[in-house]
Amino acid sequence: MLIDAPSPLLDANDIRALFDLALLAARDWHATCPVQQGFAPWPEDLVYVSREAVQIPGLAHMVHDPGAASEASRALRDAILAVAPFAEWRLTYTEDEVGADFLQRFGWFELAGPEGHFLTDHARITVGFWGANLYYPRHQHEPEELYTIVSGKALFHADGEEDQALGAGATRIHAANQPHAMTTSDSPILTLVYWRGAGLADPPRLTAA
Ligand SMILES: [Fe+2]
Repeated sequence: MLIDAPSPLLDANDIRALFDLALLAARDWHATCPVQQGFAPWPEDLVYVSREAVQIPGLAHMVHDPGAASEASRALRDAILAVAPFAEWRLTYTEDEVGADFLQRFGWFELAGPEGHFLTDHARITVGFWGANLYYPRHQHEPEELYTIVSGKALFHADGEEDQALGAGATRIHAANQPHAMTTSDSPILTLVYWRGAGLADPPRLTAA
């Protein structure tokens, strides 16, 4: 068994409350970060929808070690951990694309967006986790992207830029369709990621060799 099953004592209202707390923590994180505010305003049209939880192998790794938070990011990290067993996790990539180990220790879910736990057409706000010692191959997408590091650390790569090592509290922007990649070493990384622009509901795709 990969993880403990969600407590049967939690009903739909309890789960809704965990998502509300995670959303509030994310909004606080946004409100205290000028880079996030400059990238996109906090969406005001959010509507909660009940979604079936999808659990993935990476969830157990995240709960075991989400990586080091900063004082400012601890509340969001812990709110994400609390709601994680109830999130609709996704893997997007196939084993042929990224390998079996990657799929065991990676995952993301859409907190807010066109297909999120909170619906909005104005942004896509996702939570992403990668375990230690993983390489996330070059990929791209039409929307512009802002990574914020909630806990842990990684080395970020992007075409046309120097590599950048980032930890909790740091941010990084990728341009529309700019190929980018990421490497974790001795630490996992947990991120809150914003997309803006056209193609919000599209998945990222690996960049052709
Ligand atoms: Fe990206």
